[in-house]
This record gives sequence, structure tokens and C-alpha cells, in this order.
Amino acid sequence: TPDAGRCPVDHKAAQFDPFQDAYMENPSEFVRWAREQKPVFYSPKLDYWVVTRYQAIKDIFRDPIAFSPSNVLEPVGQPSPEAASILKQYGYAMNRTLVNEDEPAHMARRRVLMEPFTPEHLRKHEPMVRRLVTEAIDGFIDDGRVDLMEKLLWDVPFSVALEFLGIEDDSDRATMHKFSIAHTINAFGRPTPEESANVAHTVGQFWQFSGEVLEKMKRTPDGPGWMRYSIRQQKEFPDVVTDSYLHSMMMAIIVAAHESTSFASANAIRLLLEHPESWADICKNPLLISPAVEECLRHNGSIGSWRRRATRDVEIEGVAIPAGARLLLVVSSANHDPRQFGDPDFFDIRRDNTVEHLTFGFGAHQCLGKNIGRMEMQIIIGELSRRLPHMRLAEQTYKYVHNLAFRGPRNLVVEWDPAQNPERNDA
Ligand code: HEM
Repeated sequence: TPDAGRCPVDHKAAQFDPFQDAYMENPSEFVRWAREQKPVFYSPKLDYWVVTRYQAIKDIFRDPIAFSPSNVLEPVGQPSPEAASILKQYGYAMNRTLVNEDEPAHMARRRVLMEPFTPEHLRKHEPMVRRLVTEAIDGFIDDGRVDLMEKLLWDVPFSVALEFLGIEDDSDRATMHKFSIAHTINAFGRPTPEESANVAHTVGQFWQFSGEVLEKMKRTPDGPGWMRYSIRQQKEFPDVVTDSYLHSMMMAIIVAAHESTSFASANAIRLLLEHPESWADICKNPLLISPAVEECLRHNGSIGSWRRRATRDVEIEGVAIPAGARLLLVVSSANHDPRQFGDPDFFDIRRDNTVEHLTFGFGAHQCLGKNIGRMEMQIIIGELSRRLPHMRLAEQTYKYVHNLAFRGPRNLVVEWDPAQNPERNDA
């Protein structure tokens, strides 16, 4: 065979292909061989350099000049000419937002737009999150079995995202679900030739929908939400908050504020239920919920990998990387690096440095919404552990939308005996 006599590690690098269940299920396990033996390697199938250890990834996040985020939302491979021409018909022009903007434009924009993310502003949203979670759980608490993804974890973070952004919640949920998945496949996935025309149509429609929402908001700029705040800031800083930015952001943020949190919550609940002692601990002692959420974000977070591009010739852990090279930072592998986290595969809700995980990125672009995401996860897990402490995972096979970045199961089925619901005894 052509590979005969080759080093097995080189063979693994040559074969590396993350668009499969094994990567989605456990990305850190998927690249364990690299983290241990070849922490920076070139993947010819992706045309990306893959980086797997904690310190190297953190150092890359720390330097947005040498490592530009410009490719964060870029399709992974070349889009087919057909898909490109479909997108063109819709006037699709996704460009820079915050997450993929270079310095110094990025910091200027982040500064002008960050106020609604401050803790004082976030506190206002807490009762709304609790109400949404409570209503969703009321809807299934007597059923004994539910797909949490369908009845709670997809919708609640979506509603919270709409409320935070100020988007009227009159959209059809099924259409929005389709939009989100198509955007994820377009930006982080590898659509099959059959899929790619469909994905392009849906992404094009999502782009137009985002433009319409934006136009509507521009007519009521004094209303609520971060997007209207951005529209008001545009009047004062027109060169910093451009029209292209507003339109691109409108589309990207609906997904970023939503899928990240839905999947993080699903991954966390699954992990907790797979560790019944930890689940029992948080059911007994709600003060453990906040550190448990952080450990879930480290151990089984909703971001598999994130991307950067080298702007000059650089060396990463002794490996020469040419200017222009694209980098795949496997953040979930960094989160399982024994150099940073002792006994890293052990799930320990009392771990003292778990907050150093890289699931929210690090440095200039670190997630602006991290405290919204954390609050949602804490409330979801808090309410479930209080009202359904006896729930357990049902037998199931987890399914995924194959992509580099957003990871979590499409469904998460749990079961319990409704006769044992604590609130029945309270009555
Ligand atoms: C950026 C993850 C929730 C808004 C990011 C980045 C990651 C991330 C990995 C890029 C960081 C970097 O390049 O260093 C997550 C996770 C979430 C979550 C895991 C949930 C558990 C949210 C929510 C919002 C949000 C709820 C908004 C309401 C943003 C924004 C940026 C960002 C605006 C761009 C920041 C910048 O480039 O300056 N997030 N996110 N995220 N996230 Fe989140």
C-alpha cells in the first residue's frame, strides 16, 4: 500500500477527517494521538494545521495580530460553483462581525458595543430565563419521558437570544431551526454535493430574513435589545458600526447566541447524568451548580475547534508554519491537556482550575456572551435538578450535525417516574 512503512502518526495526520461521529462525540479523544505524539500537524484533507495542546492554543488566542480570526466564519472547503451562484442570487454578503474582525477595527467595535453585556444589564434578563425554563418544564413534568433538546434546550436559549437581541418572537421555529443548521453546515461543516444546493438556498433565505429584521428595527431604534443598541451606536460611530457589520452580525449572532448554549446545556446534562454521584451532589447542594457548569464546559463543552489564520511565518511548538496558513485549534483537546488539568478526563465538579478552560476562547475575542450562556445553563440545570432529581438518560444513539465547531446531540432523551416527582409530595 502507499502507506507501507510510514510512521503511524504521519498516517493518522494524512487521514485526519473530523467530519464524523467520533469527532463530534469526543473531539479530545479523537486527537489524543496528536496531543500525545504530534501536537501540531498538517492535515492535507482539510488544508489546515491542527493544534492540540493547551498552552499553544492559548498563546495563539492571545495574539490576534499574528493569528487573525478572519477565517472563523469562512466555509471550510471551496464552495461548489453551483452553491456560490445560488448564494449570489440572494445577495449573500456575509462579512466581518466581531468574532472574525481584525485589529484595530475589532477592539474599536467591541468597545462601542459591549455595554449590554455587562453584569448589571445581564441581571435584568434572569427572571425571563427562569420563567421560560419553568414553563418548558411544566409542559412535560408529568410525562415520564422527554426529548430535552426538543422541549427545552433548543427553544429556551433561542427565546433568550431573541429577547437579548431585541428580535420580536413571531418567527416560525421550524424555519429558524432550519436556518441555524444550514448556517452551521455552511460555515463550519462540509456539505455533500447533494446537500450543498439546499444549504445555499437556506443560507440565502436566512441572509434575507436577517436583512428584513434589521430594516424593521431601524424603523424603531429606541426599542429594546442589543441589535437596536448597535443601531443607535451606528449614528454616533458610523465608521465603526457599518451597515455590512450590522447585517452580518444579525445573521451570525442568532446562531452564536443560541446553538452554543443549547448544545453546551445538552452536553452538560448528559455528562452529569452519566456521573450519578455528581448529579446527586448538585441535587443535594445547589451551590455546586455553578462550579459543575464550568467543569461541564471544560470536560464536554459545545465548541470542538475554533479557527485562526497565520498572518506571517510563525513557529508553533517548534513546527514552522508559513504565512497565510489556516489553523484549526482543537479547544476541546486543550481542555483535556494533562499539562494544564490534572487527570484531565476525570469529571470533577470540585476541580480548582476548571475555569481556565478555553471553551469561550481567550483574549481579545473571548466570548462576550459567556455570562449569559452560564446563567442559562445554571438556571436550566438548577431547575431540572430541583424538579426532576430522579431523571436518568434513556437508551439512545446520539446524532450530530457534522462540523468543526458547534458540538452537541440533536436529541437528548431522559426518563423518570412521575409518581416520584418531589413537587407531588410538596402538594
Ligand atoms: C465569541 C463560545 C454563548 C456572543 C465566542 C467565541 C467562542 C464562543 C469560542 C470566540 C472566542 C475567541 O475567538 O476567542 C460560546 C459558548 C457559549 C456562547 C461556548 C455558550 C455556552 C454566547 C451567547 C452570546 C455570545 C449567549 C450572546 C448573547 C458572542 C460574541 C462573540 C462570541 C458577540 C464575539 C466576541 C468578539 O469577537 O469580540 N463565543 N459562546 N456567545 N460570542 Fe459566544
